[in-house]
Amino acid sequence: MTRPFATLLLATALLGASLAAPELAQANEPGPVLAYRAQVMKALGSHITALFAVLDGEVAYDAHLAGHAAAMAALAEMIPDTFPEGSLGGESRAKPEIWQQWDKFTAAAGNLAAAAGRLEAAARAGDSAAIGAEAGVVGDACGGCHKPFRIKKN
Ligand code: HEC
Repeated sequence: MTRPFATLLLATALLGASLAAPELAQANEPGPVLAYRAQVMKALGSHITALFAVLDGEVAYDAHLAGHAAAMAALAEMIPDTFPEGSLGGESRAKPEIWQQWDKFTAAAGNLAAAAGRLEAAARAGDSAAIGAEAGVVGDACGGCHKPFRIKKN
């Protein structure tokens, strides 16, 4: 990284921090939360798509499998935070059942985190059979939450 760019980054970071400070009390407003939630979900989508590109042999980045799995485990643990009570309506496809059945919802996030953790372990061990099986469980864990808790697209 060249020095002027680093300086610019630092200046932006400092400016950002000083601009953000007075707004802290308003953090986690619905609009930004929905946008943030969408990024977490899209990141999950990117990692699972990349992971299956490796498993399907489209690319030979086998050494990346564990990293994708670890990233999904970390993202899965963020899911409950990104659904503060009442963050639905408008563009959101979140169902009210999320908060009526909060334990079931967090368990569904936990299922994904656990499956992604097992997938990471299988990838690190180079256990192809376990990798294939756990990748399927990870995929099912997305649907295991979307089906009960996400409004279907028209
Ligand atoms: C614990 C529940 C849960 C799990 C697990 C989960 N999702 Fe989601 N996901 C949701 C809900 C609810 C929405 C709708 C959120 C909204 O519209 O406000 C959503 C939305 C999405 C979206 C749309 C994002 C956008 O552009 O708005 C994508 C993509 C997505 N999920 C991918 C995934 C993938 C891939 C996995 C598994 C690796 C996964 N999700 C696991 C609950 C979950």
